[in-house]
Amino acid sequence: MKKHNFSAGPCILPQEVLLKASEAVMDFNGSGLSLIEISHRSKDFVEVMENARSLALEILGLENKGYKALFLQGGASMQFLMTAYNLLDKKSGYLNTGTWSSKAIKEAKLFGDVVEVGSSKDENFNYIPKGYSVPEGLDYLHLTSNNTIFGTQIKKFPKTDAPLVCDMSSDIFSRQLDFSQFDLIYAGAQKNMGPAGATLVVIKEDILGKVNRQIPSMLDYAVHISKDSMFNTPPVFAVYTSMLTLEWLKSKGGISAIEEVNEKKSQLVYSEIDLNPLFEGFAKKEDRSHMNATFNLVDDRLKETFDTMVKEAGINGINGHRSVGGYRASMYNALSLESVGILVDVMSELERKG
Ligand SMILES: Cc1ncc(COP(=O)(O)O)c(C=O)c1O
Repeated sequence: MKKHNFSAGPCILPQEVLLKASEAVMDFNGSGLSLIEISHRSKDFVEVMENARSLALEILGLENKGYKALFLQGGASMQFLMTAYNLLDKKSGYLNTGTWSSKAIKEAKLFGDVVEVGSSKDENFNYIPKGYSVPEGLDYLHLTSNNTIFGTQIKKFPKTDAPLVCDMSSDIFSRQLDFSQFDLIYAGAQKNMGPAGATLVVIKEDILGKVNRQIPSMLDYAVHISKDSMFNTPPVFAVYTSMLTLEWLKSKGGISAIEEVNEKKSQLVYSEIDLNPLFEGFAKKEDRSHMNATFNLVDDRLKETFDTMVKEAGINGINGHRSVGGYRASMYNALSLESVGILVDVMSELERKG
């Protein structure tokens, strides 16, 4: 039986993407060779890379606006340090909204001053700080648009003169934003895009070249841009599968179409959390994520029964992260409304039984 996959990442990908990717592993474009045994410099793979890069910009509405898309390695965690290495000359600002922001802050401190413009650590990151002020003269302000572990999401981005850098690992391509307000966006592939191994970086070229330090080639955005994201052997399978997912998203009508479905899915699960007396939400209502819903059982004695019912319904991956506990339903682009309906049915069945 195919599982209803609510895993936080790596996570569900569209079935048709998995099928095409597995076919390409056996025989790529009818070449008689596998995608993963051909040269990354071959015409067929160079086309894949170019297609993936231009699709990313097209879907984000960032074509012809001075942006470049790169597929790099090292995960989003590598971007915690690459952003600072390339952009932090004297002083940066960070909004601390959870584990991933905290890790980004730790890396940035190796390169210059970090001003924490706001933090929700006081309440175990169950909300997004608001009303904070952003000091003048920052090299950039770093945000995490969606906090995968805590289930919070920034709804309104700050207006500031500082360049905006955003970790969108867990909500890229899921909701329509004016992406041109950001100067650098990064996202590990393994949520809404593809398998782990590639990280999408979308960067406005004119923010580069402002730091006075030598940057090792592999960590230098300018080097990767000058080599069309092929400075070294790219993660070919991850890039190819990301390209397939981007084609899938485009064929579905792009971000605005998927956003409608994503809203229905999250509304369904949050209304059950709010109406069912056996459950309580973790994140503050106004900051709830449309991608990761975090919740708890009010009475922990029901855990065994609930967990058994979840398993019997073929639901996978809803255990909460260890720093929050409880449950987390991750509802990325490829998860169907039907799967969310199954989870909600199990939650209401628990109430009927109870
Ligand atoms: C928001 C966010 N940022 C960064 C990361 C770290 O990504 P990676 O494991 O690709 O380094 C994650 C991982 O889940 C994440 O959710």
